[in-house]
Amino acid sequence: MFIVFEGVEGAGKSTQLRLLENCLRGEGHKVLALQEPGTTALGQRLRALLLNSKQADQPPQPLAEAFLFGAARAELVTTVIRPALAKGEIVLCDRYTASTVAYQGAKGADPFALSTLNDVAVQGVRPNLTVLLDLDPKMGLRRKQAEGPLNAFEEAIANWLDVVRAGYLRLAAASAHGWLILDARLPAEDIHRQIVARVAVMLGTVP
Ligand code: TYD
Repeated sequence: MFIVFEGVEGAGKSTQLRLLENCLRGEGHKVLALQEPGTTALGQRLRALLLNSKQADQPPQPLAEAFLFGAARAELVTTVIRPALAKGEIVLCDRYTASTVAYQGAKGADPFALSTLNDVAVQGVRPNLTVLLDLDPKMGLRRKQAEGPLNAFEEAIANWLDVVRAGYLRLAAASAHGWLILDARLPAEDIHRQIVARVAVMLGTVP
């Protein structure tokens, strides 16, 4: 079982991932919680390169940026996600392919190229469920800024997050199943309950 959390900054992905992780562990499941980009050594280095480049640095073109996120993803799939799934673990991931479509798409990269690149990177490893925490980006940014200053990547994308949000919703609408779209303005506990209900159906543990 492979579950991905998606949404704009401040939508509450990490909070929901932790809540689900604790809940599934409490039920006795083996759970692996991951973050994109990150987790692997290459992922960590690309994360630093992508998210905290100095302002003076020339930012990469959207397609080049997508390849860097894709490289981190290919490494993560090969070395961590696929082996864990093969062992029967439940894998939870903070962001995955939809982030590339939504963010690099918002920056102007060709959607077909992004979809092809994603296909190559994931090598057939697709989520059973993508939870989209849908939120007005203005609200998300307010939440995020209350936690601390934005990083260089977030500063640059801040004015385009409405396009990112629309990209997510388009992608979810185009996918026949495998998505759970939730209103991220709701209290965290309510959102958690809805996620748990869906996952219980998938695990066949509905009472
Ligand atoms: P992160 O600190 O994980 O953001 P958040 O706390 O909101 O999850 O930073 C990830 C950033 O990278 C986020 O702004 C979205 C962006 N991103 C892409 O643009 N494309 C991608 O494929 C991925 C995985 C992330």
